[in-house]
Amino acid sequence: MPFYVRAGALPAKRHIQFRRPDGGLYAEELFSTKGFDSVYSLLYHLRPPTATVDVREWKRAPAQLLPNEPVKNRHLLTRRSTLRGDAVDARVPVLGNEDLLISVADVDRPMEYFYRNVGGDELVFVHEGEGTLETPFGELAYRAHDYLMIPSGTTYRLQPAGATRLVVYESSGAIGIPKKFRNPYGQLEEHAPYCERDFRAPVLRDPIGPVGEYEVRVTSSGRSAVYIAQNHPFDVVGWDGYCYPAAFNADEYAPITGKLHQPPPAHATFEAPGAAFCVFVPRLFDYHPLAVPIPYNHSSVDCDEVLYYVSGNFMSRRGVEEGSITLHAAGAPHGPQPGAVEASLGKTSTDELAIMVDTFRPLRIAKAALAFEDPEYFRSWLEPSPGTKT
Ligand SMILES: [Fe+2]
Repeated sequence: MPFYVRAGALPAKRHIQFRRPDGGLYAEELFSTKGFDSVYSLLYHLRPPTATVDVREWKRAPAQLLPNEPVKNRHLLTRRSTLRGDAVDARVPVLGNEDLLISVADVDRPMEYFYRNVGGDELVFVHEGEGTLETPFGELAYRAHDYLMIPSGTTYRLQPAGATRLVVYESSGAIGIPKKFRNPYGQLEEHAPYCERDFRAPVLRDPIGPVGEYEVRVTSSGRSAVYIAQNHPFDVVGWDGYCYPAAFNADEYAPITGKLHQPPPAHATFEAPGAAFCVFVPRLFDYHPLAVPIPYNHSSVDCDEVLYYVSGNFMSRRGVEEGSITLHAAGAPHGPQPGAVEASLGKTSTDELAIMVDTFRPLRIAKAALAFEDPEYFRSWLEPSPGTKT
């Protein structure tokens, strides 16, 4: 996050002696990104985060991704997935490439271990449910429509208060706020669709002290391990800096609307290497008297578009349901389905909520996702033949 936050107890300067009440030194940890060249935070632990009792194998099956061959538009009804579990083992990979892996997860239980993805940032969208994301920086209470931004290397546990559905984006790099929304000092510009007050930082709790054996499952760009740590990952008494998990709720997004149709970049949220994220929230439609409120036909020649449908009436798209994912592949034209343009005329607003990511390298389809594919989707733009009942 590009905003400075401080929490808990800190010494007056960095890298100086900072003592516990029993006279011992707190253990300072620099949590840095891009080596020492990008955002970082300093955390103060009761005891060193380095104390490792054991390192074991974590047999985690990698996502099996198949080429989108022959290249075509696809529709995946992800609500048909029956897998349940915690926020890590419930993940069903859906689409992915070298830059991004997209999964859905139906979470019905808390994590009984800690998890750390060191391969890149994670962006977790909460479709339904509420609970708590626990991290060394503190706790983030989450609710429906939250984006949870989790920097690479953050140790966490997700504790649902009830059934929770997630869309998980695992990036190979940093996920951040688009440069176009920030001034040279990093502050959000007046024209940005959100402001600093919309982002929630973690609330630091009392440090958890007892020495023990704490299981931390680590994944790092295809490599993985189980670490047994001697000290609790959440034994932090204070931290400050610019790198920490944060939450942003899509309902806080202030959409940019216009006289004529606004293209997806007007609805941008985040960016990452090889990926641009957008959100389509309930909003007023265009106000030109002859405006066509829904999107035009479109060929995205240099990116694959992935929409996840959250709620509302998805006016330009027939046959999708909540939890549907459509992949509109580079080179395969897409747009409103037959009758959708006429049906939209005169409408003044939409209640749809959908999240989107464009990737600039081709996406592959996870083998697991083919089980809930609508194989007829690519034909859904055909006009019904005369006399056909629709
Ligand atoms: Fe498009």
